[in-house]
Formats: sequence, C-alpha cells, structure tokens
Amino acid sequence: MHKKNIRSIKIFSSLNVRLNTALTFNVKPESEAFIEPLSPLRNTSQTETQQKKIDTFAEWDTWDTINAVKDALSLYHSVTLIEADEKAFDKLRELKPDIVFNVAEGFYGVSREAQIPAMLEMLNIPYTGSDPLTLSLCLDKGRTKEILSYYNIPTPSFDVINNIDEIKNTTLRFPLIIKPNAEGSSKGIFSSSFVNNTEELTREAERIFNEYQQSALIEEFLPGREFTVALIGNGDDTEILPIVEIIYNDFPENFIPIYSYEAKWILDSKENPLDVFACPAAISSDLENQIKQTCLRTYSVLRCRDWSRIDIRLDANGVPNVIEVNPLPGILPDPKDNSCFPKAARTAGLSYPDMLNKVLLSAAKRYSLI
Ligand SMILES: Nc1ncnc2c1ncn2[C@@H]1O[C@H](COP(=O)(O)OP(=O)(O)OP(=O)(O)O)[C@@H](O)[C@H]1O
Ligand SMILES: [Mg+2]
Repeated sequence: MHKKNIRSIKIFSSLNVRLNTALTFNVKPESEAFIEPLSPLRNTSQTETQQKKIDTFAEWDTWDTINAVKDALSLYHSVTLIEADEKAFDKLRELKPDIVFNVAEGFYGVSREAQIPAMLEMLNIPYTGSDPLTLSLCLDKGRTKEILSYYNIPTPSFDVINNIDEIKNTTLRFPLIIKPNAEGSSKGIFSSSFVNNTEELTREAERIFNEYQQSALIEEFLPGREFTVALIGNGDDTEILPIVEIIYNDFPENFIPIYSYEAKWILDSKENPLDVFACPAAISSDLENQIKQTCLRTYSVLRCRDWSRIDIRLDANGVPNVIEVNPLPGILPDPKDNSCFPKAARTAGLSYPDMLNKVLLSAAKRYSLI
C-alpha cells in the first residue's frame, strides 16, 4: 500500500468541486496570558490556581492556527467560521454546509472532542475526522489501552486509579510515569510525573486528583526512543507520513527525557525553538516497518478516520509501543512551533494547505461528496 507519490497530488485542483465548508474550532482566550513565564522545572510551590492557569487552554487553538486553516481551505472552497460553543448547533443547522472541517477540542469532560461531531451526526452534516465514539475513546487513555491490549498491540503496562488507596494494589515496576487519564497537549505531565517510588507516585497522584479532578493513569516507563506518526486517509488508502523522532540528547541535563508540558510549551518556544526533532527519523527499514504496522493496526482497531497522530515509544526490547492516539492532532502552522503533524507533512512535500485539503478530500470521499 501507499504506492502513490503524494508529492504529485494536486489536492482538489484537478477536481471541479467547490464545497461549502464550515470550520469549527475553539479559540484560546486572548485576555489571559496563556503561558506564564515559568522556569523550565516546575515550581511545586505554585498555588493550584496558578497551576491550572498554565495549561487550562493548552489544547485550544490560537487565531493564527484558525486563520491558517481557513486560508488553506479557502484555496478551493468557501469557508464559514463557527466557534464550537453553545450557539454552534443553531448556526450549523442554519448554514447546512456541505461538510465541516472540525478542529474543535470542546468544553468539559472526557467526551469534549465529540461534542461538535455529535451535533453534526444529529444534523446529518458530513465532517472531517473521527466519530464521537473514537474521539471520546482516544481521550480516555486507559480505555484506549484496554482495547489495544485486546488486539495484542503493544502498549505499556498500566493501572487506572481513582484514589490514593488504590496505589497499594499496583504491581507495576518502577520507574513509572503518572498522568491525568483524559488530557492532551501534555497537560498535567511534568518532569515530576516520572516517579521512582511510592512516595513520589502518591505525591503526583494527589496533584492529579486535586488539579484535574479525574482518574490517574500509571504506566511503566518505556526507556527507548520516541516517535510520533501522522496518518491521513481511510482503509487501504491510508498514508503514513514520514516518521518524526523526538531526540532527547540535547535536553538540559536535569530534564527527564519525556515530551512533558515544560518541554512542549516552555523549553520549546517560538523565540527559542527546541531542535529535538528528526524527520524522517533515522531508523532501520525493519524498525520503520514495525512502527508502521503497529500504527496502521491501531488506526484500524480504533476506527480512526481521515487523520490522526500516534505516539510511539520503544520498550527495553526495542519493540514499538503505542503511548496514545490523537484523532484531532495539533496543527500549528508556523514551522518554528514544531508541531509534529505539519512537520511530517512538510517532509512528505505537502504544504500546510495541501495537508489540510488532503484531510478534507479523505472525508469528502468517505461521504461520496466527490
Ligand atoms: N509509558 C511511558 N514511558 C515513557 N515515556 C512516556 C510514557 N507515557 C508518556 N511518556 C512521555 O510523556 C509524553 C506525553 O505523554 P502523552 O503522549 O500520553 O501525553 P499527551 O498530553 O496526550 O500528549 P499530546 O500532546 O501528544 O496529546 C510522551 O510524549 C512521552 O515523552
Ligand atoms: Mg502525546
């Protein structure tokens, strides 16, 4: 599969179709400073409120991203912006677009990414990306891992805990990583999330329960190389973009080698981009095939549609394990932002507009709109 030369595809230009699209999104509040000027290592003396402020809106998009997506789609289609708030349902019902390009992360709870897709299903309006079931499932990392385990897809051994008492039942082997069960964009994952003993584990579990009011996922720590893999398409037409490796050698010495919140949003900034990515990853064809097979199976068993990004890390035996699946991948347009999906697309020769129109094309084909 994947025999097509994706460089040669002129997305939509040869097709004589112009779709009435709507772009659904959540925008980061501009009034509030999104990232506080923090030291790279988390200051544990911060109050809960300060801490919350740091990453509350980390998943949402800036106007830069929303406008870049709009401009990309506008090359071939009409685009109406619809903010994914309580008024969205009426607006969508009135507008009745041919198709919605959905990047909305939603409000509140583990099903937040499913909110707009669920409205669209009710209104019978086509949309890009996975359905409400897959979007909710992938945000619940523990549930996702249960399904991966059923299909024998390697994923780190894990427990989901709901209170401190449950820590004593775990038979997992340290070192461990502990994270909120249902967040993305490294929310709640700091250097301190890497724990070596029960005391550290308890401290971090308390932090997660207090600050995120949700279950905590505890996983055995995978010591190997880390990759992230972007996929576009459906069924036999699914394409895997060049694999991105996150290389931790250049991290400051006291940094735990994880793509933590500090690493993603503080250590790596537009002014000082962190050059820790290799794309395409320098890997043997054997490892490349193993990673691709694992990702394709994951994409298929989780019923991902149109696009997704899958995070992979090697275990002590060099076997690729799935860390988590992002059916609504981050797509910051500026290369300096080091957003991995657009980075993989660029390496494949796909511009930002090509990448997004390719996703739209996959969805449009799936609904037989073209
Ligand atoms: N079991 C593990 N072993 C080793 N490192 C891990 C493990 N789980 C997570 N990590 C590290 O923590 C990082 C963030 O974890 P994860 O991908 O689950 O968070 P996320 O917030 O959902 O990420 P994203 O921003 O991709 O949505 C990973 O990229 C990896 O570096
Ligand atoms: Mg991740």
